[in-house]
Amino acid sequence: MQKKTIETKITIYQFEELCLEDQLLINKAKEEVFKAYAPYSTFQVGVAIMLENSVIVTGNNQENSAYPSGLCAERVAMFYANSNYPGSAPVTMAIAAYTNNNFLSSPITPCGSCRQVLLETELRYEQNIRILLYGTKEVYVLENIKQLLPLCFEKNSLDR
Ligand code: THU
Repeated sequence: MQKKTIETKITIYQFEELCLEDQLLINKAKEEVFKAYAPYSTFQVGVAIMLENSVIVTGNNQENSAYPSGLCAERVAMFYANSNYPGSAPVTMAIAAYTNNNFLSSPITPCGSCRQVLLETELRYEQNIRILLYGTKEVYVLENIKQLLPLCFEKNSLDR
């Protein structure tokens, strides 16, 4: 028998400790929550993605009365980036969430389906995507999407 432990590396910052570029991207994600369509959960999520060509792509969650037909902010933004800028890899992604008239004090992390989609993009461009998870109290920074989805299913898993 063998045991294996998998670590996730997270660096925790105060907002003011981040470089200006990261602060700007978070501020874009924060602005984005106010454009979310989330009448059912009233949980508004905003995302901003910095691409290699310096374009910033944004998105927010889009809900539906048939609940599963809605889509998380991360996938809205990433699919937009991939479909409009297929030649430019995403470099950094910022995520913010807002509910009950407040931004969350501790960050939220992307759901399982979003992790799978984000990982596909990271592998597609063979380049790390940094993630900034915003909370008013603290900001989590992860160096790549793989940190969020160890033991993942990926393209190579199909080569059997
Ligand atoms: N949601 C996101 O947009 N991103 C996340 O990371 C978590 C959840 C959305 C989905 C749904 O519209 C609402 O938040 C409540 O789950």
